[in-house]
Amino acid sequence: MFEKELENIFYGDCWHVVGHVAEVPNVGDFKTFDLGRVPLLISRGKDGQVRVFYNSCTHRGNQVEVSASGNRKEFECPYHRWLFSLEGALTACPGSKEFAPDFKQENFGLLEVKSAQFLGLILVTMGKNTPPLAEWMGEEVTSTLSALLGGDGRLKLLGYQKVSYNVDWKGYNDNDGYHAPMLHAGFRMLNWQGGKGFQRMAANGNLVFEAELKPAQDNGFLKDPSLIAFKGSDPARGSMIVQLYPTTVMVKHLDMINLRFAIARSEEETEVHYAYFAHEDDDEELLQHRIRQSSNLLGPCGMISMEDAAIFRRIFIGNKTPGVAEFQKGVTSFTELPADLKQNDETGNLGRWEHYRKLMGFKREGGK
Ligand code: FES
Ligand SMILES: [Fe+2]
Repeated sequence: MFEKELENIFYGDCWHVVGHVAEVPNVGDFKTFDLGRVPLLISRGKDGQVRVFYNSCTHRGNQVEVSASGNRKEFECPYHRWLFSLEGALTACPGSKEFAPDFKQENFGLLEVKSAQFLGLILVTMGKNTPPLAEWMGEEVTSTLSALLGGDGRLKLLGYQKVSYNVDWKGYNDNDGYHAPMLHAGFRMLNWQGGKGFQRMAANGNLVFEAELKPAQDNGFLKDPSLIAFKGSDPARGSMIVQLYPTTVMVKHLDMINLRFAIARSEEETEVHYAYFAHEDDDEELLQHRIRQSSNLLGPCGMISMEDAAIFRRIFIGNKTPGVAEFQKGVTSFTELPADLKQNDETGNLGRWEHYRKLMGFKREGGK
């Protein structure tokens, strides 16, 4: 099943988030990432452009770069020392006089993966018939995602937390995002219920949530209540989540901007890189506030999301039984799925499963 998912979904006609240009701000900066089992190399060239290549040498296919990120003047394949420029051109290949007679150096640059950007967010697709990015995302996504990315996408990387969850990518996709006030004890301790909000289904299994931010009440649990201060200007849009199918979850909550880049590793493993960002225009005080909030509240050891790893694994185990797992909250029909939903409705999950059926070519049995 996992192999078919890789073919139909991860290497098929979907866009996949692999990073943000703020992760490679300077010429020569690079980041490696995997799309399923396919290794990618994201590089900022001398022309300032960010390109995404297959991380594979065009000689014998050796993996070119093994570091997670860094800065290079060029990329050198250690096997037979072929050299590639930051823009992917093959600039040197020792011993080429003895190569096959039709060898032409200019034909052996690193292969580029089809990519597109939205306010600096980098997406790739290996599909042959993937719709243009804006059409694929759906217009419902644009406004929330723009606001989430600071309005203009001029972000600054603060750092990462990287974690491997023992759950397949579907379990991760189905259970990250919508559960905050119910699952997370930190929300209850701080009497921190969101205000008015909505959830909206967009095209292709994509989903948007927005909620008014009701400031948390410090019930004496925190030594330093300034941790939960909100310094942003628009509490009506203080909490936002965008889920791009299949595995990307992006969150703005309080003053945290958190993009979660996920890798489907196997039937039992999903690796998630929690990347935290500030805005380029932030002053030093706001920047420090964002770092403190990000590292203490979100992520695998964050006060308001530390239960995630446990619940992802327990969902994965519990769903191995022959019993039924049903969606309930806000569900009025299993076949007609409205686009406008309440904040914590599970109808949004149903939309994603419908999309999964479509991509995998599965038919619904018995209309339910
Ligand atoms: S495989 Fe890279 S130089 Fe030979
Ligand atoms: Fe969570």
